Amino acid sequence: MLSDKLQTAFNAQVGHEFANSLQYIAIANYFEGESLQGLAKLFTKQAAEEHEHAMKFTQFLLETGCKVVIPALPAPQNEFASAEAAAQLALDAEIRTTNQINDLLTLALAEKNYAAQNFLQWFVAEQVEEIASATTNLDIIKKAGPNVLMVEAYLVHANKD
Ligand SMILES: [Fe+2]
Ligand SMILES: [Fe+2]
Repeated sequence: MLSDKLQTAFNAQVGHEFANSLQYIAIANYFEGESLQGLAKLFTKQAAEEHEHAMKFTQFLLETGCKVVIPALPAPQNEFASAEAAAQLALDAEIRTTNQINDLLTLALAEKNYAAQNFLQWFVAEQVEEIASATTNLDIIKKAGPNVLMVEAYLVHANKD
């Protein structure tokens, strides 16, 4: 059901999603080290979501009779100059991921692969949310400036509803 080209691209995306998961764990670890529990929790949850994304691609490959080949993953960045630098890295990762999803959809459209197109639409919508939340996180951290503890207080209140 998938061309060799789509299969290769989908397998690469499995790697990208797992790499994002690892990167978010590294960011959560950084915040944990800074005693910023709210931010650590937020990125731990984000890491779990990226793991789910990788599994969605894995499942789709298996369901379409394709072979899953998990690629080597790049080492995540573990050290950050500031909370802002970590949040900026996360936003950059989401922008990169959005471009990857768009490229996959462009390929699925060119090949008239409707199953792949339908599968990818979920990710198109997901990336809108991912960019929005990563932008908000960065914005809040920037507004707090040197007082990152304000972000922790903000997160407690933002998650009340
Ligand atoms: Fe993702
Ligand atoms: Fe994401």
